[in-house]
Amino acid sequence: MTATSGKKFLDVLSGQAVSPPPVWMMRQAGRHLPEYLETRSRARDFLDFCYTPSLAAEATLQPVRRYGMDAAILFADILLILDAMGLGVTFEKGEGPLVEVINTPSDLQRVKPQAAADKLSPVYETVSRVKAELPPSCALIGFAGSPWTVTLYAVEGRGKTDKSMAWRWAHGRPDDLAAAMDLVGEATAHYLARQVEAGADALMLFDSWAEGLPDNIFEEVIIAPTRKLVARLRGMGVTVPIIGFPRGAGVMVPDYVAATGVTGVGLDTAALPKFINSTLPPNFPVQGHLDPLLLIEGGARLDARVDQLLDAYRGRPHIFNLGHGVRPETPIANVERVLARIRKG
Ligand code: CP3
Repeated sequence: MTATSGKKFLDVLSGQAVSPPPVWMMRQAGRHLPEYLETRSRARDFLDFCYTPSLAAEATLQPVRRYGMDAAILFADILLILDAMGLGVTFEKGEGPLVEVINTPSDLQRVKPQAAADKLSPVYETVSRVKAELPPSCALIGFAGSPWTVTLYAVEGRGKTDKSMAWRWAHGRPDDLAAAMDLVGEATAHYLARQVEAGADALMLFDSWAEGLPDNIFEEVIIAPTRKLVARLRGMGVTVPIIGFPRGAGVMVPDYVAATGVTGVGLDTAALPKFINSTLPPNFPVQGHLDPLLLIEGGARLDARVDQLLDAYRGRPHIFNLGHGVRPETPIANVERVLARIRKG
């Protein structure tokens, strides 16, 4: 008999293969749910939504109530830390996030790391409210962006760019970039430790812009800062599992897993199961990676792909998820169909 925690999600992260696997979906709280749209309409804007614990807790709980997900993810955003560090952050309708651009690392020194984490106290309040209401079988995931992805927003000012300014810092101003990522990483460590203190059962690090990097730069901007952040958290006494999600890392995933100290790895839509299974240790937990666009289309090909992914990771600790977030146009019936198919075992 293997010990179980009562939460399948945490059992998998402790290295157990669980069948059928636990499931949740990135961006499960969001615009595909009518109840989310109703809750969002009660906030002045997206930041106000994230900073109002009653609304953020409600949004976190909605997909758990509707779908019985095995994990809830805190409703917040990876850019809140930049707001707390004193950069202007706004979310424009149809435009996505806009961030005040930094010119030097010192632009990130307006607020001390611990003070920045203190400013995010409404987020910790959300965590404790959610924790008090979740069913005991459901895990609560706290999260933050990884140093590279968060710093990239501060260098680029927005997400919809070719990322060349951040890449040019990586090649031409590596010391400035490292200093900026250190400041973001240190504030993030305090922020995540506070989420765990408030009740988060696990943490996830979103590295959404890990894609396409040359291997030497991948080492400097993804692996090194992630390893430092994980070590810092462990040094602060944080013991919960940490899932790293280096989106688009491709052939670099095995190096990421071997070198960062994360407990599990989030795989994106393009991950190749036979590559993953032949390069990661057999008991290393993976999470992913159904294409969110296939989830919109549905039908027999959706069923077949769900079966393929279940088969590919049978016998390995696996958390079923998407390869990226749920899209607003996703039919609720397709989410239900996937869940029923996974749960029939
Ligand atoms: O359900 C969940 O996943 C929890 C909450 C969550 C949000 N953002 C809420 C959100 C999480 C985990 C994030 C992470 C996040 N935020 C990432 C990393 C994951 C990824 O998608 O790669 C990134 C890059 C961001 C930055 C960000 N926030 C962007 C680019 C956008 C605009 C794009 C969009 O979908 O509108 C946001 C806004 C945002 N964050 C929304 C939500 C639900 C949409 C806001 C709305 O209109 O309701």
